[in-house]
Amino acid sequence: MQFGGLVAVNHFSIQLRPGELVGLIGPNGAGKTTVFNMITGTYAPTSGRTLWLGEEITRLPVHGITARGIARTFQNIRLFTDMTVLENVMVSLHHKLPVRFWEAMLGLPSYRREEARMLDRAMHFLQELGLAHLASEKAGGLPYGQQRRLEIARALATKPRLLLLDEPAAGMNPLETMELAELVREIRGRYNLTIFLIEHDMKFVMRLCERIKVLDYGITIAEGTPAEIQKHPEVIKAYLGDAQYA
Ligand SMILES: Nc1ncnc2c1ncn2[C@@H]1O[C@H](COP(=O)(O)OP(=O)(O)OP(=O)(O)O)[C@@H](O)[C@H]1O
Ligand SMILES: [Mg+2]
Repeated sequence: MQFGGLVAVNHFSIQLRPGELVGLIGPNGAGKTTVFNMITGTYAPTSGRTLWLGEEITRLPVHGITARGIARTFQNIRLFTDMTVLENVMVSLHHKLPVRFWEAMLGLPSYRREEARMLDRAMHFLQELGLAHLASEKAGGLPYGQQRRLEIARALATKPRLLLLDEPAAGMNPLETMELAELVREIRGRYNLTIFLIEHDMKFVMRLCERIKVLDYGITIAEGTPAEIQKHPEVIKAYLGDAQYA
């Protein structure tokens, strides 16, 4: 992926196997979010391809990729801050509905039944993420950690097979971070997900991921198990220059 003269991600390649929990780490500006943006259709890569279950999805629009079962959360949280917690999840579910404008307009029973079912489903995802008691709060008023959980609830509501989490623990305290690690592991099992995540919290990554890839200036400098990554000389060198890990 090139931006003008900058090669943000160079010769990147990854294969995700069903059910895997894979981490993507690297210093600021390494190209991690750019990888997610390419997978999810936000950026069309300058060259290269993305294959999903045998189908090329490289240049599909974002909604086409969501519809195929790839969901994400954002490093810079993107909730509808003026809407309630529940409404934020409902919006994701609405995307799944065929458009039935007149049924909605006329308030037909079939539509009202559908609405009731969606409400149940939305509450179900809030429950999963421990947010049910906050259903009627404004999303923008939640503390950071809960906003990040709400983003996950919303992503789950699109019924993904692959979930991409961009710095899910950012802004969380150590306890919240460890609870989140547990939760991510649980939802992976419960929803048969494959999870690919970016995170700067090394304890979180090392505890959770089965396999880790390390980017530095757009280049893959290491990949392996947490144990292999922790003692990898290139990784230690890349991170030692970065105050946040010193
Ligand atoms: N739309 C864009 N236009 C121009 N440059 C971009 C764009 N998106 C990303 N970049 C550049 O690409 C490089 C990689 O950015 P990216 O956001 O992928 O890094 P990152 O690894 O996610 O960093 P961080 O840990 O800070 O989130 C950076 O130099 C960034 O400035
Ligand atoms: Mg990023």
